[in-house]
Amino acid sequence: MGNNQQPVLLAAEKLRKFYGEVRAANDISLEIAQGQVLTLVGANGAGKSTFLNLLTGLVKPDRGEIRLLGKRITGLAPEQRAKMGIVKTFQLEHVFGDMTVFDHVRTACLSAAGKHYSMFKDISTETEINGQTEQLLELFDLARVSQSLVKNLGHGFKKVIDIATSFAMKPKILLVDEPTSGVGEEEKYHIMELMMNQIRANNLAAIIVEHDLNLVKDLSNETIVMHEGEFIARGAPGDVFGQDKVVEVLVGRGF
Ligand SMILES: Nc1ncnc2c1ncn2[C@@H]1O[C@H](COP(=O)(O)OP(=O)(O)O)[C@@H](O)[C@H]1O
Ligand SMILES: [Mg+2]
Repeated sequence: MGNNQQPVLLAAEKLRKFYGEVRAANDISLEIAQGQVLTLVGANGAGKSTFLNLLTGLVKPDRGEIRLLGKRITGLAPEQRAKMGIVKTFQLEHVFGDMTVFDHVRTACLSAAGKHYSMFKDISTETEINGQTEQLLELFDLARVSQSLVKNLGHGFKKVIDIATSFAMKPKILLVDEPTSGVGEEEKYHIMELMMNQIRANNLAAIIVEHDLNLVKDLSNETIVMHEGEFIARGAPGDVFGQDKVVEVLVGRGF
């Protein structure tokens, strides 16, 4: 069972990824249940992105297994895993810059429905997909920029568009890598609030990499500290951040 008495959604079992001498993931294990939100912190190079990429399939493990609802998915491609509900944000930001915000989110809605533009002839499907798209744009406060080109919008908007697009993929678990990097203080909290509201509303599991420790305290009551490819501490942020070994590994990054 997962930590909040729910069945395990996603399980990593002794995942290992070395780059030469660098231990990016050193036999990491983790179980996460539906609705469970974890934050992941650690200095630059600790292995946070590698861990998320192992879960999405962008990085292949040297050894170890990944299971989704008990089914082994270790060898599956990222697209297959995304269709099964393992979705990482901030993969698409620069890809569809020439699209309008509406089309950007609609493309993901179509993809989640197993449809492509070429099949886009059925009027009832079109109505349904457009409705889903409009709803997502409302939820993420994007309706006002629906017809703007993504490339013409600011950095904060692009982040929110990417999060909305991730939700269009109908995730079971959302993997979020430094969602507020490069975003101003005020906008940062707004973006996080929009995202967290929808994570909670849909009872999604999430792993969020975030380096602002004050924000981490707000996001979840469970944080994991990573160092040299290992989880070295886990628990409530208020308890964990005071531990000597944690202070030691976070201090180098100016936390
Ligand atoms: N594709 C790669 N090739 C070689 N080394 C890599 C590669 N990806 C990551 N690394 C190394 O693995 C370690 C962990 O990196 P990363 O997961 O990006 O850490 P973090 O996200 O915590 O900053 C770092 O030392 C990094 O240089
Ligand atoms: Mg990283």
